[in-house]
Amino acid sequence: PDVSKTQAYGKLILFGEHFVVYHVPALVGAVAASTTCALEVVEGGSDEGVEIIDNRPAVPNYKVKKADEGKQAVDLVLKHFAVQDKLDGKSSLKLTFGGDLCCVSGIGASAAQTVSLSRAIDQTFKLNSTEEEINQGGYEGEKGYHGTPSGIDNTAATYGGLLKFQRTEADPIFTKKEIKEPIRIVYASTGITASTTEVVGDVRSKKEADPAWFDKLLEQYKALVKKAEDAMDQGDIPLLGSLMNENHKLCQELTVSCAELDQLVETARSAGAIGAKMSGTGRGGLMLCLTPTEEIQNKVFEALEKSAPQVWKTCLQ
Ligand code: MEV
Repeated sequence: PDVSKTQAYGKLILFGEHFVVYHVPALVGAVAASTTCALEVVEGGSDEGVEIIDNRPAVPNYKVKKADEGKQAVDLVLKHFAVQDKLDGKSSLKLTFGGDLCCVSGIGASAAQTVSLSRAIDQTFKLNSTEEEINQGGYEGEKGYHGTPSGIDNTAATYGGLLKFQRTEADPIFTKKEIKEPIRIVYASTGITASTTEVVGDVRSKKEADPAWFDKLLEQYKALVKKAEDAMDQGDIPLLGSLMNENHKLCQELTVSCAELDQLVETARSAGAIGAKMSGTGRGGLMLCLTPTEEIQNKVFEALEKSAPQVWKTCLQ
């Protein structure tokens, strides 16, 4: 049979989770692992059904907790591209998701899934979509998982590389950043699967209850991300690391970190990481840290393996 197979990357937010929802810049890097989507049109299918086979590796709990949202997300992407109209009611779809991106809260697995699906639809039905249209399809699907996300995850999944991303009243603005030196990273899971919709919603309630408190943190973050961009442009990895530590502090003040994340951050720093912070939604999910050499990367990896349910090494380049 005719099968389109596509892929889309996972991401790590280096600076700006949660703040990015409020139209300030964030820095995000794609990881060298991706989700694949194989789309097969099964002729003679009678019920216009969609069969989803999910072979993606995942931490325990992830797929169980996200199953309903995943179905919703797939349906939203299919609807966005008006796929049922293209099938004439005579066939059904078989979607197989796989790849080497381990699904874990914080890595953008949902966006990698919806973007890989958008690409598969585009190929199968020869839509000649632009990257912007693929990204838009991915964003529509993300709404099935996360309510009204900023769009940072699907943008990273679509374009890859290192991006400066900013949400606006209209379309988001983003630019690719050049990486002067490969950035070695270790990231680790708390084992807790967080709900982005809930955590983002809770931050919004806290902001509405105490706007002055929130504005102060937002201003501090804005100054921080400016310095982070400069450090990145200069390839100043030690400075970048200390700014990550500051970003983690702001996340703690925003109440989106948790004891498990703070513990992993401490472990990473004690083992030699030059900067460590939570990454993504928080209240569970992921911690990431900067490790300037391969030796330090291995040492930090080993230290984290003792306390984190799962640990990965990657390199942004
Ligand atoms: C999730 O990867 C990042 C958040 O800032 C939510 C969003 O940007 O939509 C927590």
